Amino acid sequence: METEMKFPDLIFPEGFLWGSAISAFQAEGGVIKNDWSEVAGPSKVKDGSSAAEAVHFWKYYNEYIDMMRAMNHRIFRMSIEWARIEPEEGVYDEEAIKHYRKIISGVSSAGIKPVIDLHHHSNPIWLCRKGSWLNGGIVDDFRRHTKKVIESFGDLTDTWLTINEPVVYAAAAYMLGLFPPQSHSVLKMFKCTGNMAKAHIAAYETIHETFSNNNWGVPRVGFAHHLRPVRPHNPKSPADILSAWLRDYIINLDFLNRINKHSRTIDIFCFNYYSSDRVRFFNNVIPDERFKKSKLGWDIDPEGFYEVLKRYWNEYHLPILITENGICDENDELRPGFILDHVYQMHRAVRDGVDVQGYCHWSTMDNFEYTDGLDARFGLIHVDHSRPEKTRTIKQSGNLFGEISAANGITAGIVDRFNPGWRPL
Ligand code: BGC
Repeated sequence: METEMKFPDLIFPEGFLWGSAISAFQAEGGVIKNDWSEVAGPSKVKDGSSAAEAVHFWKYYNEYIDMMRAMNHRIFRMSIEWARIEPEEGVYDEEAIKHYRKIISGVSSAGIKPVIDLHHHSNPIWLCRKGSWLNGGIVDDFRRHTKKVIESFGDLTDTWLTINEPVVYAAAAYMLGLFPPQSHSVLKMFKCTGNMAKAHIAAYETIHETFSNNNWGVPRVGFAHHLRPVRPHNPKSPADILSAWLRDYIINLDFLNRINKHSRTIDIFCFNYYSSDRVRFFNNVIPDERFKKSKLGWDIDPEGFYEVLKRYWNEYHLPILITENGICDENDELRPGFILDHVYQMHRAVRDGVDVQGYCHWSTMDNFEYTDGLDARFGLIHVDHSRPEKTRTIKQSGNLFGEISAANGITAGIVDRFNPGWRPL
């Protein structure tokens, strides 16, 4: 008789923070005078949708928080939309600031720790008129923005992120033509990265200063990096190796080197993990046939997650927070297995001594996915975009995630209930 293979429960250290993440522009809805409001109209988005309503997080935040509580969240990552609190240069919308305070306090009152980004892939229109991230003046603008945000909300949480995925933003906006201003210039991309690095350093200092001036204790500041293993297509080809080395340097290392050149300007190592790249000379990314694909065609490589956790722990020895990890999956078929596979790899890293303190799934709910629009579903919560009230339902993967959080890890019972065939690799 064949005996069923058993595996031990995969339990995380006490106090591990399980939760999810959103960004303001992708979820809030409403009138936001940012650069996307000029390009994200029906004609530019693949599915013809728009972020005008997004998923009405601004309006229904209490309902979303209730659902996060139902999924046993301990952490929630969100962002403050610069254009919403400062719609015109130097003019602040105090009502919007009050509303954000309500949202953040609501999150805390639900026993969920808020983690807040100052910048997540969008900019006020007034800033764009001045040249946005290509104008060196952005560093002072960002410092001022940081000061205002921290003075307004610094008493509500101690964990702050300056910029989401600076390298992805710089490439998408200035080289690949995907985000506004849709440029195609390598030089502009590096200029943007350089200014983002300076702005990060200025924001890091400002957050620490503002906390200290207000006797709020010591904050934990980081930025949400995007990390991915980059491997040569043919490990014996010097050209492929060179191409992989260069891509790895630009995507993974360059920004870290810039911000930590003189002194370390991160207190917590935060990163988003989605996939890995296999590259052929020159910078030609080809799908890896060993991996399943997400609905957007991205390689699903859970072991790559373990690889990056180990790599940056060995390099930095800073506590790690996973600020995003998720999959575009229309019908929630792949997400449960995706979550189990990635949590398992994260557990392997923890077992090896890596200090991972929390994990935010991307995303809390289906939301507006830039050029892929509303059809690209990343959420633990399903949103019916066709209904004005944005009807919300926790998906099976959301229930699974809630159970993992309650058990503080993966147990055999959870696997039996949600994905009986699943086993750790
Ligand atoms: C971004 C999110 C985005 C997600 C999925 C990350 O690069 O931070 O805003 O929705 O990936 O594409």
